Amino acid sequence: MENLLYEKSDSIGIITMNRPKALNALNAATLRELDSLLTAIASDSAVKAVIIRGGGEKAFVAGADITEMQSMSAMEARSFGKLGQMVFNKLENLPQPVIAAIHGFALGGGCELAMACDIRIASEKAKFGQPEVMLGVTPGFGGTQRLPRLVGKGIAKELLFVGDQIDALEAYRLGLVNRVVPVASLMEIAIAMANKIVSHAPVAVQLCKAAVNEGMDMALDSATAYEAEIFGLCFATIDQKEGMQAFVEKRKANFAGK
Ligand code: CAA
Repeated sequence: MENLLYEKSDSIGIITMNRPKALNALNAATLRELDSLLTAIASDSAVKAVIIRGGGEKAFVAGADITEMQSMSAMEARSFGKLGQMVFNKLENLPQPVIAAIHGFALGGGCELAMACDIRIASEKAKFGQPEVMLGVTPGFGGTQRLPRLVGKGIAKELLFVGDQIDALEAYRLGLVNRVVPVASLMEIAIAMANKIVSHAPVAVQLCKAAVNEGMDMALDSATAYEAEIFGLCFATIDQKEGMQAFVEKRKANFAGK
């Protein structure tokens, strides 16, 4: 891959957005690489959690690639938007939980990438924003939809219309990020969180993710009915037997992932 790095550390897959000279801006080639990588990760049962981070000192991702978009026709921009949306939907629905570790700029498509992850950990130096209106466009990779779902309609509209950057503490106050941590500890904290998730029953974690993702778009009675189905499904796993047996025997559970 030219624009991404991928490494596995135990059962954690770590994706690094790797175009630091362009502050990791998302061009079509990067999105296609991410698409292929996510397809591979989705079927890699050895990977139980994923972390996404930005390469270089300054940015998680500073948005979609403006130099590439500059000369696009309306039809080309529509296809580019659909490509980004498809890849971010795939990320959001990846079976494994995904943590965004955000150390610097997460602007435009970068904020949209972070929002497609399950959990966002920001360094104190991270900056967030949807500055697209300053370029004469709207967000195109899901930002107009995921932002209001995360922070509410009014705050989302302010961020979208005003276009200002906000710092990590403000992002935390708004519910855009889960935690703010010192920049030097960012990866250590992201890995510790991933390891904690990985130590639990993987099928249960995946089903929690599916329940939240699917259920949030349903009426409450349908969503709770869906929860009942997947709760029942857990009882067909070896890990449910092991988890409850271990509790009764006052020992740590040893999950098989089945
Ligand atoms: N696309 C392409 N190149 C980018 C880029 C982007 N989104 N963001 C930064 N770069 C490039 C710069 O052009 C520059 O390249 P050169 O060294 O070749 O000139 C390099 O990265 C470093 O950037 P700066 O010199 O600008 O660094 P800075 O520290 O002065 O500023 C910044 C940092 C505030 C993040 C600034 O780079 C910036 O405003 N970037 C654009 C942010 C933005 O508008 N993002 C939204 C894009 S639109 C979008 O994402 C649409 C969508 O939803 C699909």
